[in-house]
Amino acid sequence: MRKKVTVVGAGNVGATAAHWIASKELADVVLIDVVEGVPQGKGLDLLEAMPIAKTDCHIIGTNDYADTADSDLVVITAGLARKPGMSRDDLLQINFKIMSEVVEKVVAQSPECTLIIVSNPLDAMAQTAFRKAGFNRERVIGMAGVLDSARFRSFIAEELHVSVENVTAFVMGGHGDTMVPLVRYSSVAGIPITELISQERIDAIVQRTRDGGAEIVKYLKSGSAYYAPAAAITEMTEAILKDKKKILSCAAFLDGEYGISGYYVSVPCKLGSRGIEQIMEIRLTAEEDAALKNSAAAVKKLCSVIGM
Ligand code: NAI
Ligand code: 2OP
Repeated sequence: MRKKVTVVGAGNVGATAAHWIASKELADVVLIDVVEGVPQGKGLDLLEAMPIAKTDCHIIGTNDYADTADSDLVVITAGLARKPGMSRDDLLQINFKIMSEVVEKVVAQSPECTLIIVSNPLDAMAQTAFRKAGFNRERVIGMAGVLDSARFRSFIAEELHVSVENVTAFVMGGHGDTMVPLVRYSSVAGIPITELISQERIDAIVQRTRDGGAEIVKYLKSGSAYYAPAAAITEMTEAILKDKKKILSCAAFLDGEYGISGYYVSVPCKLGSRGIEQIMEIRLTAEEDAALKNSAAAVKKLCSVIGM
């Protein structure tokens, strides 16, 4: 039997993720939203694309959580997206309320599922979902590090005119201005980027990565990025449903790892059928460690505002 994935929020990120999950034949998909008609319309449109995509995945759109019952994995994208001039943190209060309601309904129908949280501000929303769901930390995972790392990798590949497949790079920390792109662990076909790119250009690429979300918001004007975020969700979904044991940067609830306790930030994780199967602890320099702790402190501040 095919796996079942529910995507909550049939907006830009949710619908695009549903598209890619079904196109890759990873699972049957239930698209759910509060707005009547939109998930049904997008779900039917996607279903009608499947003969051309050559996959037998079934897709439905709904407003009824009963249709989400017994999902293996639930992706939560419900909430507001930022507009120009807004930071991710400006979404805190409204998305906290939405996340709390959604998690309660999801868990009532799918008590055994794994949650991938996407709504912003990401780390505080993952924390909210973790507290409200009452699941173990392995099954409540935030999507941010995969997206931020993909941006970092794209910019490195562009800089050197090489295939993106040659670029390994990753970003740790909170999904915000304090994120920590790890230059020292970034390489092209095994060659450290510090051997290939000047320090001045590396600094510019790191800054562009940190501003990656805002750069897209500035162009779109009425919303935020969704293709790369949806691709990141799909990669995480595939790693979990296919039990790939893939190492990806994910927002995880830390319990002493990296000297951080009680908060979500992105760190390298092994993703498999049990969700986060291992948090990889890599050695950081004093400067990198301070940057990660600074990022965790920013997450802590947001969590304290919502009492999480
Ligand atoms: P969008 O506005 O296109 O879609 C959001 C959808 O959520 C809408 O269809 C809305 O009706 C729905 N919604 C609102 N309240 C709901 C509820 N109570 N139950 C079910 N659905 C509800 O926004 P978009 O672009 O899809 O972004 C969604 C969220 O993901 C935003 O918070 C955005 O900031 C965040 N995001 C996070 C990223 C990350 O890296 N973690 C990347 C991109 C977006
Ligand atoms: C992004 O980084 C909006 O968090 C979202 O594009």
